[in-house]
Amino acid sequence: MPKLSLRHVYKVYPSRDKGPSLFKRLFKRKEIKAPEDFVAVKDFNLEVDDGEFVVFVGPSGCGKSTTLRMIAGLEDISAGELYLDDVLLNNVDPMNRDMAMVFQNYALYPHLTAYDNIAFALKMRKIEDEVTDKDGNKKIIKRHLTKQEIDEKVRWAAEILGITELFKRKPGEMSGGQMQRVALGRAIVRGPKLFLLDEPLSNLDAKLRTSMRSEIVKLHQKLKTTFIYVTHDQVEAMTMGSIIVVMKDGVIQQTDKPTDVFDYPNNVFVAGFIGTPQMNFFNIVAKANKTHLVAKFDNGEELKFDLKKMRKVKEKYLDGQEHKLTLGVRAEHLSLAEKGLSTKLSIYEILGSVVHLFVHLDGFDKDYIVSVDDRKNFISGQPIHLKFDESKIHLFDGETGNSILSRENNHD
Ligand SMILES: Nc1ncnc2c1ncn2[C@@H]1O[C@H](COP(=O)(O)OP(=O)(O)OP(=O)(O)O)[C@@H](O)[C@H]1O
Ligand SMILES: [Mg+2]
Repeated sequence: MPKLSLRHVYKVYPSRDKGPSLFKRLFKRKEIKAPEDFVAVKDFNLEVDDGEFVVFVGPSGCGKSTTLRMIAGLEDISAGELYLDDVLLNNVDPMNRDMAMVFQNYALYPHLTAYDNIAFALKMRKIEDEVTDKDGNKKIIKRHLTKQEIDEKVRWAAEILGITELFKRKPGEMSGGQMQRVALGRAIVRGPKLFLLDEPLSNLDAKLRTSMRSEIVKLHQKLKTTFIYVTHDQVEAMTMGSIIVVMKDGVIQQTDKPTDVFDYPNNVFVAGFIGTPQMNFFNIVAKANKTHLVAKFDNGEELKFDLKKMRKVKEKYLDGQEHKLTLGVRAEHLSLAEKGLSTKLSIYEILGSVVHLFVHLDGFDKDYIVSVDDRKNFISGQPIHLKFDESKIHLFDGETGNSILSRENNHD
């Protein structure tokens, strides 16, 4: 089974005057870098089973493309190992890695038709064939694919992508989405073990992006090959991935199923990055014993949360002492109540079936978002009392930003 494995992978861009050898020497001494060096990817560990759809997501500059390019072999690996099917790939030429990469700019040959663009790599490629010579001895020869073999592959890929009628067009005569499909076709015909896609949809308009998104998911289902897909768009990550790797500053923050990243974010960064509207974060000072947690908010108000209704809090925080925490709650897990945290309405937005209320604590200008499905008349400045769905709240250590909740509920 093709299994991709990245173990303690680093990418360090050395400052120009020293060259990479200094990094290697430092690394042996367990010093990761010289002060001037830039660490683009830090201790990246990932095991990918065959057929997964892995999405690398994170803000611009977090090291997504660098990691993908190291997998493809377009970028040296500064330290750590990359395996595919237990074969160490660190020093294997990109041509021999059995991977196909699709970039954001489709990089089609402008003077070739769609057909020839797709066929191009196949024409170059040599395959190994077993033949029997006249003495009956079997031997392996290398040969180019025949015209018919190439044609069959190109038509098969075009059929999957629905671009057979574009065969005669050159890139200048196609739309962005069509060019993107041709670029995908070119990758498919190679029958790689791994597809690497770096923001392939970012040049497309919003509508086309959404439809190509589902096209790529369908393509993955048909081919059943492993895909690694890079995006900075959390919606793409949530909707496409079977596994999401959330990155920040070259470091993996969380590797999980999309629903788990959403439900159980490891830290404040992941919680804020995944989900729209963004999760609300309240600074609180909390005191908890075995049954309740009392949270004091910035406006001095105290709310009592029932621990039995919440996910389990780490033991260390249940000592009856005060702890500075960040309380995270999504807009849909807040509701309006007679009693609850006192806020005032800043503005509201009617988005069709839901209404977003932007509320703030009296005397503080930070807005929190509450999602309600009631379109009754709201008035700016009116008092709003917020009730928290205790089973859905998140708690993070105020210093480290790490979650202090386990995945289990107390009542299980
Ligand atoms: N050749 C290089 N020399 C020095 N630094 C580099 C080099 N290539 C990339 N970097 C830096 O490495 C970091 C990671 O870059 P990378 O391209 O992987 O980011 P990314 O996550 O793909 O971002 P984006 O979403 O903008 O594409 C960035 O801070 C970038 O400036
Ligand atoms: Mg990138």
